[in-house]
Amino acid sequence: MRRAFALVAAACALAGCERTMKDMYVQPRLRPDSASPLFPDGKGSRPPPAGSVAVAAGDLALTSGGRHGRDDLVARDAALAASAAPAADLALLRRGQSRYDIFCAPCHSPLGDGDGRVARRGFPRPPSFHQARLRDAPDRHLFDVIGQGYGDMPSYADRLTPQDRWAVVAYVRALQLSQDARADMLAPDLQAGLRALPAPARAPASRAGAPAPAVGASKAEAS
Ligand code: HEC
Repeated sequence: MRRAFALVAAACALAGCERTMKDMYVQPRLRPDSASPLFPDGKGSRPPPAGSVAVAAGDLALTSGGRHGRDDLVARDAALAASAAPAADLALLRRGQSRYDIFCAPCHSPLGDGDGRVARRGFPRPPSFHQARLRDAPDRHLFDVIGQGYGDMPSYADRLTPQDRWAVVAYVRALQLSQDARADMLAPDLQAGLRALPAPARAPASRAGAPAPAVGASKAEAS
């Protein structure tokens, strides 16, 4: 049976499939933008489902236009971004965390130390957020890096609105704090609890001149 099929197929190929399979070319199909009685709106083309994002429109089209498109985005965003950073509250941090985990962690790692999976596989390794220069960098610098790219890092302007960029900046600040908080930043009752720990639990402060032990050290001890 299989053999017979192969023979027929071979014969067909020798005879020239083009003619035999003609109705693959000539078929009752609708051309783009032609009319059709099939649908109530009389159009042959179906409208895209609600919420569809056309690749040939909007921010995606702008960035695919290369540097010129990016410049357009940057100019447009400059107006939006002129507004100051929103007040950091829990909702903003949660939004920032979710955007960070999607768009930044692949390279910068969930901790922000630059050891992301993409970097491990050969992409230029990003700097750690926990170095003094980036701890001291103004929010605006982080915001601009996200929107405009930086060296080997591409721009995320087409994926993060200015509002989302501020949310990510707030979350990066939280990440930095998570690795570099001083005990005197804690609420008084937590500071008292820390002081009550046995002496070996207290590590020297992570920053020179900091008055109290680092929180991270006591946490590591407690777990
Ligand atoms: C594809 C990998 C990649 C992704 C994703 C990525 N970055 Fe980067 N990032 C880098 C690299 C590489 C550098 C170092 C670039 C250089 O110095 O040339 C960098 C640098 C930075 C810097 C330091 C700039 C400076 O002053 O040195 C910040 C801040 C930063 N990224 C934030 C982010 C944030 C926030 C996100 C998510 C919105 C993000 N990055 C997403 C790769 C990435």
